[in-house]
Amino acid sequence: MGICSKIKRKKITKKMKKLSIISMLLLLVIACKEYKQVISSPENKTLKEEVVQEETANAELTQNKGIGPIKSITLASEIDQELVTKGEEIHKLMCAACHKTDKRYIGPAPAGIMERRSPEWIMNMILNPDQMVKEDPIAKDLLMEFNGSPMNNQNLTEEQARAILEYFRTL
Ligand code: HEC
Repeated sequence: MGICSKIKRKKITKKMKKLSIISMLLLLVIACKEYKQVISSPENKTLKEEVVQEETANAELTQNKGIGPIKSITLASEIDQELVTKGEEIHKLMCAACHKTDKRYIGPAPAGIMERRSPEWIMNMILNPDQMVKEDPIAKDLLMEFNGSPMNNQNLTEEQARAILEYFRTL
């Protein structure tokens, strides 16, 4: 082997090194471009929009007062323990057959309901379930979710329903 061929080989390996560096750089540029595209892609934007939509949907849920005799009620900041005890008793007698306090049963669990629904909606659902499951959007969805088994009207008075609402505040 002569000196010439050695020099040639060195030149070739140098060229290959250069080539591989260039191709790596190219790959990097392509990867960056794709990353930018993903970040600004319309899908990503719709994701953000969906989050906003969900938040407004939640606000609408708690603003929905339902359909029935209860138009507006204000809750005192302190919970009325006497009323809670009354409500708990009525719940045991008239509701517990279908509602376990913290587990889904024949109907949904009331635990946490004060965060999901407005107080008016809850009382209207108790006092006027037949019309609610026909006309109120949330109650209609609930009826579907619970396989079309409707909640019967338990014929409570407004006072009894109010006591149950106070009890729900403690769950
Ligand atoms: C025969 C079974 C049954 C009885 C008894 C019953 N419920 Fe229901 N309840 C349901 C079902 C099922 C639903 C879900 C909606 C539907 O399918 O109509 C429901 C829904 C509800 C909801 C809405 C829950 C939510 O997460 O939005 C409230 C509030 C409620 N019931 C309160 C009561 C109260 C208070 C009583 C007692 C006075 C009672 N229910 C008695 C079956 C019953």
